[in-house]
Amino acid sequence: MESTQKGRILAGFLAPHPPHLVYGENPPQNKPRSQGGWENLRWAYEHCRQKIKALKPDVILVHSPHWQTVVGHHFLRVPQLAGLSVDPIFPHLFQYRYQMDIDVELADACAEEAEREGLIAKKMTNPNFRVDYGTIVSLHMLNPDWDIPVLGISANNSPYYFTHDYAQDQMIKLGEATRRAIEKTGRRAVLAASNTLSHLHFDREPEIPEDMSREYVYSFEQYQWDMKAIELMRQGKLDELMAILPEFMEKTAAEVKAGSLVWMLAAMGFPQMPAAVHGYGTVIGTGNAVVEWDVSKVADRLSETQAPTTEEEGEACPA
Ligand SMILES: [Fe+2]
Repeated sequence: MESTQKGRILAGFLAPHPPHLVYGENPPQNKPRSQGGWENLRWAYEHCRQKIKALKPDVILVHSPHWQTVVGHHFLRVPQLAGLSVDPIFPHLFQYRYQMDIDVELADACAEEAEREGLIAKKMTNPNFRVDYGTIVSLHMLNPDWDIPVLGISANNSPYYFTHDYAQDQMIKLGEATRRAIEKTGRRAVLAASNTLSHLHFDREPEIPEDMSREYVYSFEQYQWDMKAIELMRQGKLDELMAILPEFMEKTAAEVKAGSLVWMLAAMGFPQMPAAVHGYGTVIGTGNAVVEWDVSKVADRLSETQAPTTEEEGEACPA
């Protein structure tokens, strides 16, 4: 169903999903209890929570590397999903009771637009589907009240089977399809790319997982790569960021390989604006940055300068 009001993307967040962040916060939904930990990342997310409340979006879309699909890009398409999510690697940190409302109309539009891009798109209609922890952690850290509908998107595994160019090209198409779906359904949307940056990590955990005296970068080289990528985001140099991504993935096993970041940047039209970095921190040595692109003001300025037309449905938004 098409809306008479054109929707738009308000903001995009790089929203990494280590379950440690939820564990450190001790929310009522999570069973394991901690003594805190990873505060710099959790405080970074608190800024984002305030920002999202102020933006009052209709929906938060999240692309998660841990909902892996072999054939095509999948969209959650059940009005409500609830259950218990347990991290298979860290079950002692993350056993989370979730309940979420899904924007199924937007799911339909996303699938339709993805097919229009020539992508394989599927709707996930199993009411007993167990939502992955990547989706849940990113959404919890951005909006622990769960009072905004969401739309989860799977990570098609093609980046791991094909060349970088082919795989990331698919994510650009998926981003453009997502943007058109948001526009034609009239949604005011926030995007979340559920990606860690550098991803080489330690394989031994301290006796107390939240012992921050044991938390540090995996290697200086990996840290330098993260800083290089973050600095390009801060400077708004997304062309340069895209150019270094293949080597970044190769040298640090960066999780952006799953495509979430490229999907989000493409949906926003690769905004040539400085991103706001709310925080950086390591989790078992991996590099995690909480980063915001507030394109709402760009969209406001564009709507002020553009003469209104009735022919705009489905056109690309430069923001
Ligand atoms: Fe992950």
